Amino acid sequence: MYVIFLGAPGAGKGTQAAEVAKELKLAHIATGDMFRDAQKKGTALGLKAKEYMEKGKLVPDEITVAMLLERIAAPDCRQGVIFDGFPRTLAQTEALDKSLVKQSKAIDKVIFIKVAEEELLTRLSGRWICRQCQTPYHEVTSPPKIKGKCDRCSGELYQRDDDKPTTIKERLKVFFAQTAPLIDYYTRTGKLVEVNGVGTVEEVQKGILNALKRRSAGRK
Ligand code: AP5
Repeated sequence: MYVIFLGAPGAGKGTQAAEVAKELKLAHIATGDMFRDAQKKGTALGLKAKEYMEKGKLVPDEITVAMLLERIAAPDCRQGVIFDGFPRTLAQTEALDKSLVKQSKAIDKVIFIKVAEEELLTRLSGRWICRQCQTPYHEVTSPPKIKGKCDRCSGELYQRDDDKPTTIKERLKVFFAQTAPLIDYYTRTGKLVEVNGVGTVEEVQKGILNALKRRSAGRK
């Protein structure tokens, strides 16, 4: 199964994708995490991506698509993938479709996690992330058991550079201008399902799993 998690910054794509991928035994590909990992390693890709990420802009399509296509060729992607934060432009959408068609595969479902803008701002400004395993926390709604430490791996928690108020605003602007058109695109293909992204993490996850199951049932 090949599934896209679509949603604005802070909608909960990363939180949900990690859990759902584990539950359904799918690979979890998060382009934002891949860029941050490349930055940590100081690679040329990481340095290039940093120029755009720190301004809240999208990394150019040619760089993002090349990285993604290399990643989906890996053996762990054969059973299926949850794409978290990719595609974000129509050009990325077309590149992904083309690549899957070549392998006689296709996107099965697009889960649009919908959250109002005010809630997105609250979530991003209170977010803390594990440096080691990338698990996200929120200082109010899902704090770690020990302040500054990851519950899962005891890694150090940090706040992302692009979670500053001015950069958050730019990321939201970019989402509405460049990524929101994908909602119409995937609605026209009949693959998009909107899921309410407000509620506890467990409630949202239940909504997503139900949406994915509904499709399997309809296919039989
Ligand atoms: P990326 O890392 O993908 O960031 P994003 O899309 O802006 O999304 P976020 O990670 O901020 O939010 P999320 O939806 O994953 O929410 P989360 O689960 O963390 O991309 C960063 C940058 O990389 C981009 O700006 C761009 O420059 C570049 N990039 C990446 N992909 C690209 C691409 N395809 N093309 C070009 N450039 C690309 O949750 C947020 C917070 O809310 C957390 O604190 C969490 O604990 C909390 N939370 C989660 N669920 C709930 C809930 N149900 N209730 C209350 N709080 C919740």
